[in-house]
Amino acid sequence: MTATKTKLKIGIVGCGAIGSRLAKAVVVNFGDKAELSGIYDVNLEKAHNLASELKINNIVVSTLDDLIKRCDFVIESASAKSSKSIAKSVVEAGKDILVMSVGGMLEAQDVFKLAKDKSCHIYFPSGAIAGLDAIKAASFSNINNITITTRKPPSGLKGNEYLLKNNFDLDHIQKETIVFEGSVDKAVELFPQNINVAATLSLASGCKDKIKVKIVTSPEYKRNSHEIIAEGDFGAIKTCTDNLPCPDNPKTSFLAVLSATAMLKNILEPVKIGT
Ligand SMILES: NC(=O)c1ccc[n+]([C@@H]2O[C@H](COP(=O)([O-])OP(=O)(O)OC[C@H]3O[C@@H](n4cnc5c(N)ncnc54)[C@H](O)[C@@H]3O)[C@@H](O)[C@H]2O)c1
Repeated sequence: MTATKTKLKIGIVGCGAIGSRLAKAVVVNFGDKAELSGIYDVNLEKAHNLASELKINNIVVSTLDDLIKRCDFVIESASAKSSKSIAKSVVEAGKDILVMSVGGMLEAQDVFKLAKDKSCHIYFPSGAIAGLDAIKAASFSNINNITITTRKPPSGLKGNEYLLKNNFDLDHIQKETIVFEGSVDKAVELFPQNINVAATLSLASGCKDKIKVKIVTSPEYKRNSHEIIAEGDFGAIKTCTDNLPCPDNPKTSFLAVLSATAMLKNILEPVKIGT
């Protein structure tokens, strides 16, 4: 007779575009191995709406602490402003976390150390980019330089404070325009909702200072695309994704949701494929 394994209790912080879709994935795709034990959003109405959509009672909690108590594993899909403190609280409680708002984790070495001390795991999905497997491998050799060029339709940059302050009129942009060129730190500071991929690339490569970030928009763009070019002792890596936006949030690429779903599969299934 084989022993029945208990299901992994998963909790979600942030019930927006990504959190809602991942909640559904937990229920629909991984119901045999995991259960959705709690959902939390600073906007409680969003959590309640998600619970009724999923037709699950008693999963909405009103504080992060309550969520952590109920779960073994937390998915952060809230914001770059809070991801580090959320990750810290989860890891302090000895639980694992998957972080979507990677931009908030660039200066989180203390949380990484805490995870090590507590034997916890912090997972960062590849998100909307391709090639992180090769970049991780390349990081064991010398990387000379990496450029990531993110192209978004104007709607994907709407509401960005830096662009508003600098009078970029996204509604009337006529041609392809570079709206930002600079370091990962600056990109994450100025485009926290748009540039998690640069942060993930930085963590995977371990060479933040060699990365140049470019953000370009055009009325002709209909998709969010991310092009990565890296050079070093291994040769060269060139990858490009041409992503459709998530229907619930044009700032988010649908591939980012799928990438987190694939990572959940990797965590839950015994056979793990890919670097
Ligand atoms: N890693 C990647 O490749 C990638 C790709 C796209 C988006 N993201 C990031 O993932 C996060 C979620 O994206 P989204 O499209 O679902 O955004 P969204 O705006 O649709 O949803 C975010 C939700 O989180 C809630 N929230 C914000 N701060 C919170 C907090 N401190 N505690 C609890 N709830 C909080 C909001 O009320 C909202 O409901 C964002 O930070 C986004 O930048 C990452």
